[in-house]
Amino acid sequence: MALFPGEVVEAEVHWKARHGEGRVLRWLKMDPRRVRAACPVAATCGGCDLWEGGDAVADLKRAMAADLLHRQLPEIQDWRYLPAPAEARRHRIQLHWDGEFLGYHQRGSHQVVPVQACPAAAESLSQAIPRLQEALLGKALSQRPQRWELATGTPEGRVVAIDDKAHAWLLEPDGWHRDEAPILETIEGIPLRHRAGGFFQVSPPWAGQAFREILGGWGLKGGTLFDLYGGVGLFSALLGSRFRHRVVVEFDQVAVEWAKKNLEALALPTECFASDIGKWLPEHLGHAEDLILLDPPRTGLEPGVSAKLHSAEAGTVVLVGCDGAAFCREVRRLEPAWRLVDLVVVDLFPLTHHVECVGLFKKG
Ligand SMILES: C[S@@+](CC[C@H](N)C(=O)[O-])C[C@H]1O[C@@H](n2cnc3c(N)ncnc32)[C@H](O)[C@@H]1O
Repeated sequence: MALFPGEVVEAEVHWKARHGEGRVLRWLKMDPRRVRAACPVAATCGGCDLWEGGDAVADLKRAMAADLLHRQLPEIQDWRYLPAPAEARRHRIQLHWDGEFLGYHQRGSHQVVPVQACPAAAESLSQAIPRLQEALLGKALSQRPQRWELATGTPEGRVVAIDDKAHAWLLEPDGWHRDEAPILETIEGIPLRHRAGGFFQVSPPWAGQAFREILGGWGLKGGTLFDLYGGVGLFSALLGSRFRHRVVVEFDQVAVEWAKKNLEALALPTECFASDIGKWLPEHLGHAEDLILLDPPRTGLEPGVSAKLHSAEAGTVVLVGCDGAAFCREVRRLEPAWRLVDLVVVDLFPLTHHVECVGLFKKG
């Protein structure tokens, strides 16, 4: 649970390697904007931590982002915050089956909090939770304790359950049926396909809208777009027609195959490489009219990547980071070769403390 600035609690704190996690023992001062959570398991479930922010959740997340930036990048005064629209919901959820119950992991533990529905998920996913539980209890699906992903595409509707071995089942009126068809995401009118269980944005319609607004606002265009950590080609699809050439690099072989097909279907032929970015990235990448766009996983850029980017000849870098602290660390590592000239913090992960940072860099 996050605190509004000014709230005071007595808490028991467990220190981890780089941060502390507190359990509230007693409230001493509570913000009047705090509300009763609209989710019945909000107090224990590890999935969301901001239900009690109610209508003030956008203010709370903006304040959390401002606090982080003030501490890590105090020289950055000029940045924007994009709150999530009320209708943004998760199109992928990770559930756990312990042999008896299906639900989310409890905050800070591997204990399962049973759930029958999830108000943070797309309606079709939420309704599929009891159907999955029924199939597990009825032995129509393996009873082995494991993680299950429920995923739907864009627009939502068709629901797939994926086990921890990446086998997928489609939910039909009479139950779950093995199905290896890709998931279709139509983002800002652009069709993109990916393997069920493979990476795609958690709230795809909102992510597409936000990225189009941010990247479009920067007027990016030119020679080659290097779409690094490119997944199935989302950024190449959104920006590709503004560049004469496109290169996608991504280490998931299946995602790369989908990127190639997705972009070819959009008449945006693209060179696609299945490779680890650290190994693929050469010194002196690109030319002045090129853009290097990096969208690494939560852990951030691999060691050595920012150092190699110092020698890049491209004129522009865009860094997308879903961990605020890791993003701030990368900004420092890219200096002095690259100077952050604009920053947008987007709430792509509603009801959690996570935000997406999208930074535009020019040669220092
Ligand atoms: C945050 S996702 C972004 C995907 C894509 N840009 C999108 O928005 O759909 C990060 C991607 O980087 C890939 N990845 C993670 N580490 C990598 C590495 N070291 N080298 C190449 N790709 C990597 C993952 O498989 C994943 O597809």
